[in-house]
Amino acid sequence: MESEIKNSLREIKQVIDAEIEEILKNKNELIEGLFKSAAYSVSGGKRLRAVFAILVGRIFDISLEKMIKPAVALELIHAASLIMDDLPYMDDSQLRRGKPANHIIFGQDVALLASVALISEANQIVLSDENLTVSERNQVTAMLCGSYGFNGLAAGQFVDLKLKRKDIEFKIFKFINEKKTAALFTASGLIAATIGHAKEKEKKALQAFSENIGFAFQIMDDLLDISGDEKIVGKNLNHDKTNFIQLVGIDAAKNYLKKYHEKAEAALNIFGKKAHELKGFSSYLFKRIY
Ligand code: IPE
Ligand code: IPE
Ligand code: MG
Ligand code: MG
Ligand code: MG
Repeated sequence: MESEIKNSLREIKQVIDAEIEEILKNKNELIEGLFKSAAYSVSGGKRLRAVFAILVGRIFDISLEKMIKPAVALELIHAASLIMDDLPYMDDSQLRRGKPANHIIFGQDVALLASVALISEANQIVLSDENLTVSERNQVTAMLCGSYGFNGLAAGQFVDLKLKRKDIEFKIFKFINEKKTAALFTASGLIAATIGHAKEKEKKALQAFSENIGFAFQIMDDLLDISGDEKIVGKNLNHDKTNFIQLVGIDAAKNYLKKYHEKAEAALNIFGKKAHELKGFSSYLFKRIY
């Protein structure tokens, strides 16, 4: 199962990377620096959100052609969120994906503009995607927007940055992880479910799976922040303003990780054998060392 999911990851990554290269080709000499900054931060990465969306799409027999632009849009939004997350007034990180953070190379002003441009581009490529019906385009765009607004990334990042240590409690962490991380995973799963005309109970199952892997994914990321290897992880460690491990300690965090992973997999039972690849995906997520 492990080699199967690694092959899928590799294949999907190649297709996504080729599509991204096409989309981010410089179209205007005057703004070459802006395209360079955006392309710099979109390159690399594990492409987990795109892979997740495409694997959910396979459950509903959606062609790769139909999933490719929404999957790319998810990765553009994710890259934009990483540019912002590293800024000096956010996590103040200098290293991302094994390279200097965007603002170190291009400056904070350009980094911020590239981030905004990437979010805008993500919406535009979906709204002009001829492989989707107009209704699908609108629904997918609404889900993308939901993932980073007052009910998504911005909300989670706000609490992450502004939380006072004395106020740390489990339900606040749950909010942070749900919004800053799980929201984009949930959008990835539900976008594919919507394009695949999933039944209501299938959408609910995918929502439960996404929320639980999203939550567990951030716990894993927080564990890596405390005990990972900077050279392998490719980002500055010990740079979180708030980290789940501060609240519960390493052993309890590992137990939570296991619990959320199990809850996620249990939600897939209604798909029977068709859930095989998604189960491989979630196992892969929690064995990661970067
Ligand atoms: C990092 O996500 C940000 C979090 C939500 C924890 P990834 O670990 O998926 O980052 P890349 O895309 O592979 O660099
Ligand atoms: C994830 O939190 C925030 C985003 C969703 C961008 P982190 O601050 O832990 O992410 P990394 O570790 O810098 O990738
Ligand atoms: Mg952060
Ligand atoms: Mg960070
Ligand atoms: Mg982190």
